[in-house]
Amino acid sequence: MRLHDQLVTRALDEVNRHAGLFFKDVRLTGAVETINEWIVEHGIVNPVDIGPGVALDALLEDLVVHESYFDRDIEQLRLVDELVLARLARTTDPIKVWSAGCASGEEPYTLAFMLAARGLLQRATITATDLSRPALVRARAGRYRAWAVRTGANSPAMRFLVPCATEWCVPESIKEAVDFELLNLVEDPFPAAQDLITCRNVLIYLDQAAVAVVAQKFANALAPHGWLFVAPSDPRLDPYAPLAATVTDRGVYYRRADQLEPVPARRPRASVPPPIFMPPLRVARAPSVTIPPAPKQDTRAARDHARMLADRGDYEGARAVLVSAIAATPLDGELYFLEAVLLAADDLAAALACLDRAIYLSPDAPVSYLFAGRLRHSSGDRIGARRSYARALVLLEASPPDERVLWSDEPAWIMADACRRALAAL
Ligand SMILES: C[S@@+](CC[C@H](N)C(=O)[O-])C[C@H]1O[C@@H](n2cnc3c(N)ncnc32)[C@H](O)[C@@H]1O
Repeated sequence: MRLHDQLVTRALDEVNRHAGLFFKDVRLTGAVETINEWIVEHGIVNPVDIGPGVALDALLEDLVVHESYFDRDIEQLRLVDELVLARLARTTDPIKVWSAGCASGEEPYTLAFMLAARGLLQRATITATDLSRPALVRARAGRYRAWAVRTGANSPAMRFLVPCATEWCVPESIKEAVDFELLNLVEDPFPAAQDLITCRNVLIYLDQAAVAVVAQKFANALAPHGWLFVAPSDPRLDPYAPLAATVTDRGVYYRRADQLEPVPARRPRASVPPPIFMPPLRVARAPSVTIPPAPKQDTRAARDHARMLADRGDYEGARAVLVSAIAATPLDGELYFLEAVLLAADDLAAALACLDRAIYLSPDAPVSYLFAGRLRHSSGDRIGARRSYARALVLLEASPPDERVLWSDEPAWIMADACRRALAAL
């Protein structure tokens, strides 16, 4: 084997041994490119030099996917609220919550908002862990661009996030409630007796052996009555550990297999605060969610790449990708919408111009009007904001309430609610 190939193979092995990361198909091609650059940048010439240390940490940082945003997979969060937080609200015991693989903090802060909305934050300990030091630094800062709130005003997190200059800030009281720690899921010990664990969009990047190890550790980390939530695309954990899976239309969750009977609530309270963060669905759930039409392959790749760069904080790189994708495919409205989200923190006028183009090309996408309404509102243009919100509302009210809105993860009724609230606040 050529020396260069030995270096690449050794790097892939080390990344797998320490973090469980596994690459195949198009992700393998990307990983090899990243490793090639890393070899040059760090002057690596001998395979035995590749091992734990600063250089390997830098490589891991370049290889992991940090994508996250507030209220990600809101249907599953609603399930967490109705199933877990509602039950925990009937006790007076301390509550332990762990967001494993928290990236830059949007997930644990979302959980903190949900706990706060239920009046549970005071007795909750929220641990949030990741193997990425830079991601944890961003998480502790608690400042986010519009990118982290993607669909803007419709997001329940927007009830808690505070505008600060061109960004959104997590209130101090919430920041103080979340304890961010470095933790490698494959190598490090886990916190114990957790009532709620979320490990979403992390295990999908690990190989089977690592998933098996982590599954066993999660089973041991759960409190007897605890719940573990993974993302719908994550691998199943029950083949590897004493975990009982429940499959719902809002994703899979696990409980300890030795505690299958529900534990009755202890020390019930007289009254339970109403769920103000995640109101229950008011309409029957449609048997299937209508997915927006598949975008063209070429622009989807560009959008994914831009998202990946933005998730790493490389907003300039993300914009560059979008700008060249727009040059190649100038009639794709979603590209302009994404560019507007990226531009909003730095250049309001340019962001609004992008939204105008998105609206011109895709006049039926409510998120463009909603986002334009929010930008106009924040700049003091109340009349323009009212017009934009009203247009979004017309489109949303014409959509089936449970149908996922184009270019968003959310059902129409939630966005319509957000529009009505925004209009009422004008
Ligand atoms: C795609 S993000 C998921 C963020 C969040 N859970 C969500 O769903 O929005 C995946 C995160 O998992 C972290 N990660 C990957 N492998 C890990 C490991 N072995 N131990 C701890 N964290 C890991 C990455 O650093 C990255 O921040």
